[in-house]
Amino acid sequence: MSQTDPIDATDEMNRTAEQTISTTDGETAEETRSEWVDYDTGGETKLAIKNLDVYYGDDHALKDVSMDIPEQSVTALIGPSGCGKSTFLRCLNRMNDRIRSASINGTVELDSEDIYQDGIDLVELRKRVGMVFQSPNPFPKSIRANVSYGPRKHGDIETGLLARLTGRADPESEEELVKRSLERAALWEEVSDRLEDNALGLSGGQQQRLCIARCLAVDPEIILMDEPASALDPIATSKIEDLIEDLAQDYTVVVVTHSMQQAARVSDQTAVFLTGGELVEYDNTEKIFEDPESQRVEDYISGKFG
Ligand SMILES: Nc1ncnc2c1ncn2[C@@H]1O[C@H](COP(=O)(O)OP(=O)(O)OP(=O)(O)O)[C@@H](O)[C@H]1O
Ligand SMILES: [Mg+2]
Repeated sequence: MSQTDPIDATDEMNRTAEQTISTTDGETAEETRSEWVDYDTGGETKLAIKNLDVYYGDDHALKDVSMDIPEQSVTALIGPSGCGKSTFLRCLNRMNDRIRSASINGTVELDSEDIYQDGIDLVELRKRVGMVFQSPNPFPKSIRANVSYGPRKHGDIETGLLARLTGRADPESEEELVKRSLERAALWEEVSDRLEDNALGLSGGQQQRLCIARCLAVDPEIILMDEPASALDPIATSKIEDLIEDLAQDYTVVVVTHSMQQAARVSDQTAVFLTGGELVEYDNTEKIFEDPESQRVEDYISGKFG
């Protein structure tokens, strides 16, 4: 048959129109290839995400995302606004459970155990997988109380977690935990003589490092950060970036950023999400920024859209 069936042709045009509409302004449609996201990280897998779909009501926000996140490294998530980066991050410690319209299919394995299976203790999960948000959100309490809040709330001061963390079981241990967490968050030297001051009196960059210290105080394994430096000036940003790299020696860090330079500077591997909630490419950071496989990814990182 040499002639195109007119019904099929209309159908084809509709589908093409649909594809065009579903992409960001300036972005060209392109078929996604599974090998572009099939990246072997080489490290021990801390989080294995398999066929993850997220809907908000009827809105399909994340589509069939699969990727492995290796331990003790920095994984950057980049992509244009609305492509599902925060949604993806929130799936990793089940924060999306709090959004009533959200429904989630697929699996997220933490050390090979599915965090979405029945009977998972969410408090314990969120201790293991901590989160730092875009705007620093310290409690209106003293610097000390912000850091010791988590261990106190979870009763760990009585149950001995604190002693385990500090390696000591005496009343000084809370003091040590606060110091150790602030040191690890590169804030101790700036606040050691004002621990009783209200945390809201700190600068934005200091507040963000305090939030990181608060997260570290409950001894997490993974730290999720959603644009942790986007509200900060360049000097405060560079401190957070140094800290992220340093934390990756002990923790698994997953960071969402809108800054290509930041992703290129701090991350070991980069996942690029594009419009429609697709993971389009995942590879080591150098490869993504220097020689991406996908034309859409190349257009995005060279600033042609997004
Ligand atoms: N609580 C919610 N209820 C309904 N829809 C939501 C909710 N949160 C996000 N969405 C929708 O899901 C899609 C992905 O949003 P998400 O916030 O994950 O994107 P993002 O990549 O983090 O964007 P940005 O870079 O602007 O932060 C968007 O279409 C958004 O409108
Ligand atoms: Mg977001």
